[in-house]
Amino acid sequence: MIQSRDFLKAISPYKPGRPIEEVARELKLKGEIIKLASNENPLGTSPLALQAIRKALKESYLYPDDNCYYFRKKLAERWSVEPGNIVVGNGSVEILPLATLAYLDPEHSALGSEGAFIWFKIAARIAAAELIEVPMRNHTHDLQAMLKAVKPNTRMIYIANPNNPTGTIVDRAEVEDFFRRVPDDILVIMDEAYIEYITDPRFPDSFKYLRDGKNILILRTFSKIYGLAGARLGYGIAPKEIIASLAKLRVSFNVNRLSQVAGLAALDDDRHVRRGRAVNEAGKDYLYEAYRKMGLFYLPTFANFIFVDFARDSQIVFEALQKKGIITRTIKEYGFPQALRITIGTEDQNRKLIRALKSVL
Ligand SMILES: Cc1ncc(COP(=O)(O)O)c(C=O)c1O
Repeated sequence: MIQSRDFLKAISPYKPGRPIEEVARELKLKGEIIKLASNENPLGTSPLALQAIRKALKESYLYPDDNCYYFRKKLAERWSVEPGNIVVGNGSVEILPLATLAYLDPEHSALGSEGAFIWFKIAARIAAAELIEVPMRNHTHDLQAMLKAVKPNTRMIYIANPNNPTGTIVDRAEVEDFFRRVPDDILVIMDEAYIEYITDPRFPDSFKYLRDGKNILILRTFSKIYGLAGARLGYGIAPKEIIASLAKLRVSFNVNRLSQVAGLAALDDDRHVRRGRAVNEAGKDYLYEAYRKMGLFYLPTFANFIFVDFARDSQIVFEALQKKGIITRTIKEYGFPQALRITIGTEDQNRKLIRALKSVL
């Protein structure tokens, strides 16, 4: 049998939230299934994006614009940068291995929190680099400890802000101090997949560090509040030299036609963003109160999901909820064997979740 390369042994495949179709098939469930496993927008796809996709469908026989010219132009205007500062990905996760392959040799190390979004760890291993994992403090990235853990061969630091699966943030003052002290041969990735849900003024402005000429790669996605997870669309913003390096590794036509027009339209859909945020805020209030009354430990969230600790093997709770048609997410691979990460749904979905939880626990 042909042997794959050795470094692959260190890579465990990413385990996504289970799709509705799979759960329905496996458990032979007939009724409605609620997916609260992957932090999608419970309001669905941006209506403006949907309209644009429908219009563009007939052009599906044509290759997309490999440069994402109009999409990058619009993003550049939105963020007061230039198109050369932007790389578009088939989802923002696609950009993580581009970064590790561009900047990490096998003798280098990449650094992140133990409980950080796991795709970064996979990306570091794809580059066959060493991975340094730093313990979190109060379920939050410990930026000071991360700086202390930097080794002479460290070339990359990953910060998901808010972090998945904890929903916690590092604030403006912490990030300011971090950038003052981080060595300048390190690329800092700020993954801001959930930024549109942020309402707290303590949240840092990553663009400040881009303007200051730091080695920063900011990641954003259309999978969350814009409701385009199935379309796969994300982007990175960085100094032009960094973007040029990432672009060399990008597969041609990585972003399809429908996603490009969807993204263009979604950027104008302020109403969808506002509604998504409002539903999320209302859901937070309701769920915090419900979890508190049930005596469950949860982490106040800055994103659209809540980390809930059940003080028992979370697989049991996960499976019991699944039998009732509610898909959540275990997070054992993040080092949390007793917790579930549960997306904040619509009012109706949240009520069904709590009803189900009460009967399960
Ligand atoms: C922190 C973080 N980054 C990136 C992603 C993935 O985004 P995308 O769908 O754009 O690949 C997620 C999705 O769960 C996430 O939580």
